[in-house]
Amino acid sequence: MKSDVLHYSVLPREVLEYLGPALENAGNDQKDNPPLLIDGTLGEGGHSEIFLKEFPRLHVIGLDRDREIINRAEKRLEPYSSRFTAVNVWFDDFFSDPFTDPDIDRFGAAKSPDAILFDFGISTYHYELSGRGFSFSKDEPLDMRLDHDCSINAEYIVNTYDQDRLADVIYQYGEERYSRRIAAAIAKRRKMKAVSTSADLADIIKGSVPRSYRYGRIHPATRTFQALRIEVNGELDRIDRVLENAVNSLSPGGRIGIISFHSLEDRRVKQMLRKLAVGCVCPPDAPRCVCGGSPLVKLLTKKPVRPAEDEVLENPASRSARFRCAEKLPADNGGNDEE
Ligand SMILES: C[S@@+](CC[C@H](N)C(=O)[O-])C[C@H]1O[C@@H](n2cnc3c(N)ncnc32)[C@H](O)[C@@H]1O
Repeated sequence: MKSDVLHYSVLPREVLEYLGPALENAGNDQKDNPPLLIDGTLGEGGHSEIFLKEFPRLHVIGLDRDREIINRAEKRLEPYSSRFTAVNVWFDDFFSDPFTDPDIDRFGAAKSPDAILFDFGISTYHYELSGRGFSFSKDEPLDMRLDHDCSINAEYIVNTYDQDRLADVIYQYGEERYSRRIAAAIAKRRKMKAVSTSADLADIIKGSVPRSYRYGRIHPATRTFQALRIEVNGELDRIDRVLENAVNSLSPGGRIGIISFHSLEDRRVKQMLRKLAVGCVCPPDAPRCVCGGSPLVKLLTKKPVRPAEDEVLENPASRSARFRCAEKLPADNGGNDEE
C-alpha cells in the first residue's frame, strides 16, 4: 500500500513534538488502559501511522466522512489493526454529545482521548483520484461531496443558486475578489447549457477574470473551487461545531492539535482556543468576573507553527499549513498562563 499513498502528511515532526508528551505518560498506570489518540481527519492515515509507530501501546480512532479514503487508510494501517479503529462519520457528529456518556457508542473509545488531531480540508487523493471534480485541472463531474449521501453537490450549487447567492458563496468561502464577475459568467452560461464538469467551470472562470489575474500566481479557479467545496460539505460550520466539544472530551493534561490551510479555518481555531484559554466571558470593562468561567486549556503555541523550509521544498503544498496546539487543564485549575 505504501507506494499507493498520495498524500504527504504535513508538519509530521511538529505534530509529534506537540502531541507526543500527552501520550507518553497516559495510561502507564494500568495495562488495560492504553493511551488514546483520536485522529479527527484520518485521510490516508499518514499522521495516524506516525503515532502508531512511535507509541507501541497507543490506540487510535480515525474519523473520516469519506468511505473510500477510509478503505485506503485501513489497508495502510493493517500492521496496526489491533490498535486502530476507523469510523465513517463527520467529526462534528462524533464529538457532538458529551463524550463520557456511557450510552453513546464511541466505537471502542471507552475513555477520554489523551490527544486529538485535526488536519482540515481534503487530501491529495481527492484531487488526484476521487473523480469528484475537486480539481480545476481535471475534466470530471462537478460533485465535490465527501459523503455520497449529502443532498447537494457542486453541480447543484452552480446551476441552481441565484446569481447573488452564488457570488456570496464564492466571496465568503473563497475570499475571491472577482466573485461577482465569476457568478455573472456562470449565470449567463447556464442559461444556455448546464455547467456540469470541473473543466467547464474552470473555463468559464478563466474567461470572466482580467487577463492579469488569469495568468497570475495561482490558477484563477483556485478560490472558486475552494468555496464550492466548503459550501457542499459545510466545512466551516463543522469546524465551529467541533472544537469546543472536542476540547471538552479530552482527559486532563490531554492535548489538541489543529492544522489549518487557509485563514478562514485558522481564524476560527485561533478564536476558539483563545476563548477556551480565557474562560471568563464577562465584558472586558467589567470591574470583576461575575460569569464564574475558568480557563479550560493552556495554549502551547503562541503563534501558529509553520512548516520548515525543508518540508516546503519536499512538499510545496505544505506552505500554507499552520498548526496550533493547546493542553486541557485539570478541572480545578487555578488559572492560565496565556502566552
Ligand atoms: C487533509 S486530509 C487528512 C490527511 C491525514 N492527516 C494524513 O496524514 O494522511 C483531511 C481528511 O479529512 C476528511 N474530512 C474533512 N472534513 C471532515 C469532517 N467534517 N468530518 C470527517 N472527515 C472530514 C477528508 O475526507 C480528508 O480525508
